[in-house]
Amino acid sequence: MSLTPSLKLLTLAGLLSLVTAISGCTDSAFESSFVYSQGTLSLMREARDGTKENLGVKRLLDDRFGNPQHLKAWAEMPIDFGGALTTVVEIKELPRGRKVIKLTVEEGQTLPAKAANLKFVTGGFAGAGLHVEEWNSETGEATVTASESLTISASDICAVDGGTVLTAGRMLYMRHCSHCHGTSGDGNGPTARYMTPKPRDYRNGVFKFKSTNDMSKVSRNDLSRIVKYGIPGTYMPSFLLLKDEDHHAIIEYVRFLALRGEYERKLVAELSSDFSENAYKSRINASEKKEDIQKELVEFLAVDLKESAKTLGADLAEIWAAADTEEAAIVPSVARIPDTPESRRRGRELFLSKTLNCADCHGIDGAGNGPQTIAFEKNPLKADELYNEPGLHDDWDNLNQPRNLQLGMYRGGRRPIDLFSRIYGGIKGSRMPSFKTTPHEDIWHIVNYVLSIPFETDPGATGIAPSVAPESLVPPAAVTVPAAN
Ligand code: HEC
Ligand code: HEC
Repeated sequence: MSLTPSLKLLTLAGLLSLVTAISGCTDSAFESSFVYSQGTLSLMREARDGTKENLGVKRLLDDRFGNPQHLKAWAEMPIDFGGALTTVVEIKELPRGRKVIKLTVEEGQTLPAKAANLKFVTGGFAGAGLHVEEWNSETGEATVTASESLTISASDICAVDGGTVLTAGRMLYMRHCSHCHGTSGDGNGPTARYMTPKPRDYRNGVFKFKSTNDMSKVSRNDLSRIVKYGIPGTYMPSFLLLKDEDHHAIIEYVRFLALRGEYERKLVAELSSDFSENAYKSRINASEKKEDIQKELVEFLAVDLKESAKTLGADLAEIWAAADTEEAAIVPSVARIPDTPESRRRGRELFLSKTLNCADCHGIDGAGNGPQTIAFEKNPLKADELYNEPGLHDDWDNLNQPRNLQLGMYRGGRRPIDLFSRIYGGIKGSRMPSFKTTPHEDIWHIVNYVLSIPFETDPGATGIAPSVAPESLVPPAAVTVPAAN
């Protein structure tokens, strides 16, 4: 069960944003820091670094997420940081500065079985930690030694062993993932440069192979499947042999990196149109005064960005939490249509049809060599410029080859329901579009056809050009059914 501190507890405490520092990392081999995105670095200096009174993007980010050695738990985020958020009920004084602090968790949550430290989030002791000498998980009583000058009061909030899941996740991630995905999750680890496709840059919060609707985020189950089984046909390995609790910790850490990256992007988006270095230059060229721009920026940081920093966090928390709900899941409205020669034939017609136009990218025989793979695409980052090389490009600006469907290797899983999800939801971040308005029966026919492509004895030999309307299609001469085994 998730131990994510509930928002109810937080509102009870009357807090808008609650961030706990998580204890430092002891493994010096992993000394490193998170990098800032290109977007952040291209902002005007004050927007990036902030001013004395007002936080800029870097500080907003560091205060909420910290750095690999000093991770922070922004309680509002839907991440299981580990440990439990508790409230102090009463304090009993013992001789020689020892105290017994009685703690309680919100209804529905449980106190941890073991506890080594307390970290205070609010009250006179906020930010400080205490070593737990004795712990009674039944009564929630922690025996600690604290000097008299430090005031702990009833209703203070404190984390018991806070952040244990996240620090475990960080450790595993640095060992097994960072050389490809990078310390910050920017997909730019030292091994990444030798790969296509590139390791995922998590910072857009965009994931390709998910079982949720096209507007929803990736679910924890999807991430779990990816980490356990890898992505066939790419360098993404399978980590099936790790323990369940390790999978859990890694996934929470990937979510943490994705949320950090997305939060950064959103903050930058608030500022970049008026306060990037480039915007500044063109404003100066348009005879705006330097002082006026500076003044406007300071006001923006003090009012607008301060407000956005809260609302953007809340919006992100909501949309990520929603991905794990039933409503987000792709559920076909009809059961799979039986895999018959008729169904495959219908699927093939749809595949070649002008309306769906799968063949435009995947080619008439599914080999991944349709006309779009030899056309020059417009570069969305550079107005009116075409890419230098022909073919489609993904959101990360890498060449995006339509899948060769003759190989029968599916990155998002090869179960019929996986292919249904890929076609219905599309592949986010890639050029594979969503076909969510296509009737579900038709999608099942296409799934049946796609699954049969590797077994076609004479692929493409029908000579049917993709421009031919489906009505006038001659049924394929032979649709072979794979031998039952
Ligand atoms: C040898 C390099 C390599 C290592 C090590 C590696 N990955 Fe990946 N990973 C990749 C590549 C390449 C992709 C992109 C595949 C694609 O786009 O189809 C990827 C994609 C992913 C995705 C995105 C899936 C999606 O649906 O978009 C996740 C999540 C992921 N990796 C997590 C991890 C985690 C967690 C670890 C460590 C436990 C890890 N990876 C280790 C290379 C690697
Ligand atoms: C605009 C181009 C385009 C169109 C149209 C298109 N695809 Fe794709 N498709 C792609 C690209 C690109 C990929 C590879 C995405 C990736 O993994 O990054 C892909 C991947 C796939 C995959 C592989 C899924 C996996 O798990 O590996 C299947 C299956 C697929 N497409 C089927 C279809 C079908 C069926 C249609 C028509 C209903 C279609 N595609 C239309 C571009 C397209």
